[in-house]
Amino acid sequence: MTVLEALLRPRSIAIVGASRRPNKVGNIILRNLLASGYRGKIYPVNPAAPEILGFKAYPSLRKVPGEVDMVVVAIPAEHVLQVVDEAAEKNAKVLVVISSGFSEVGRRDLEEKLVRRAREKGMRVLGPNIFGVVYTPWGLNATFGPSMILRGRIALITQSGALGVALMGWTSSIGVGLSAVVSVGNMADLGFDEISEVLAEDPETRVITLYIEGIKPGTGKRFIEKMRRVSLRKPVVAFKSGRTSRGSAAASSHTGSLAGSDSVYQAAFEQSGVLRAMTLEEMFDWARAFAEQPLPRGNRIVIITNGGGVGVIATDAAEEQGLRLIDPPEDLVREFRRHMPWFGSAKNPVDLTGMAAGPEYSGAVEAALKHPDVDGVIVLYCETGLVHPRDLAGALIETYRKVRDEGVEKPMLVSMIGGDETNKALIHLDRRGIPAYPMPERAVSAMAAMIRYKNWLDKALHS
Ligand code: COA
Repeated sequence: MTVLEALLRPRSIAIVGASRRPNKVGNIILRNLLASGYRGKIYPVNPAAPEILGFKAYPSLRKVPGEVDMVVVAIPAEHVLQVVDEAAEKNAKVLVVISSGFSEVGRRDLEEKLVRRAREKGMRVLGPNIFGVVYTPWGLNATFGPSMILRGRIALITQSGALGVALMGWTSSIGVGLSAVVSVGNMADLGFDEISEVLAEDPETRVITLYIEGIKPGTGKRFIEKMRRVSLRKPVVAFKSGRTSRGSAAASSHTGSLAGSDSVYQAAFEQSGVLRAMTLEEMFDWARAFAEQPLPRGNRIVIITNGGGVGVIATDAAEEQGLRLIDPPEDLVREFRRHMPWFGSAKNPVDLTGMAAGPEYSGAVEAALKHPDVDGVIVLYCETGLVHPRDLAGALIETYRKVRDEGVEKPMLVSMIGGDETNKALIHLDRRGIPAYPMPERAVSAMAAMIRYKNWLDKALHS
């Protein structure tokens, strides 16, 4: 096992600072490990308790039998250095240092000592000042965040701990699954680039998302080189905060990082193929598309709708974002016409009219997906009494599966606008691999991000 493999797939974990008290960080981490179904060995370490939550506890790391791959450290900062030597004796590969009180409050000396000592002994450090690490395929939730996280294919690396914790809950509430959540905090040792490299090799992760406030001074060139290699393997979507000078000052007092000039980050993202989202929502909108759908081969898109208004909105967004709404060729027009009343429109956006129900949508979507002149399809729906949102979602899922089983590999994104039943249908679609959004521009923006990534990939692979 390599050092970094231990970050996602540790065979054994010691929690130094596992507390007997239920409201303490070290206690919550232990509970989360149990709740997430972690199957490796768990060793709580506590100088005073013989047992915690039914586990035999050890007074020090030294007393733990056998080797320990990962040591989670949840004791006050001033005691953390003592743990390093003991962890090395246990052949630990990675220290997950939850404790705050390092460079973010001016204790750079303590942080540097921690990393120097760990590296000398062949260990790597995640943190300090973090909420921990999650890797759902391994049943690993070594955090003091929520215990229930939906398994999926999106990895999140976050510089802000609290935000990461909140996003774990939020993604699960909207039906979005995660493969990994890694809190990097002060990034004293491991940062975005190296963890992205690990995730690039991870078969369970299809897209990597980054919440960035700033990278460490002097690591920019390395970031670009490594992230470029990662982007060649899988898409990376970043949301960078601290864009304004006041925001940047707030970032530096948060994690001690230098947010720096925004244009420098913009250039770094462009050079490395990292897609920059301008909001958190956008980052996850795009990530959901990458996680579940094949990349489009080109930018020739068809929009299919039951409402003229949303069709127009999506068309504007598509034009602004460089999608090409093709004029459907004769054979496709004929096909579309079979699935709409005489007053519908077979132009692009294809308006099936408010009369459309499941069969009309299915027919038109199948025809569009199968046509060689079409690279991707965006389906829009305004809630009507003619078709229940759940039934339409079912029809779309079935149609997409059928076409895919026939060998067609094209992306389809959906937007449904309506009330509670529509919102349920969105989650239903998402959980079955079809990214679905409550507003049409969001579906368009996700399709545009896929096309941009495909273009970057084609260029980078042939340069
Ligand atoms: N080895 C093992 N266990 C030790 C220990 C040591 N050297 N020193 C103390 N402990 C035990 C304590 O006895 C206690 O267990 P108990 O409650 O059963 O007595 C437990 O470890 C925790 O120690 P305690 O001193 O109570 O610390 P704490 O839980 O109040 O705080 C931190 C520890 C790490 C949570 C706190 O210092 C901290 O840094 N909090 C911020 C964390 C954070 O926000 N991170 C960033 C997130 S984004």
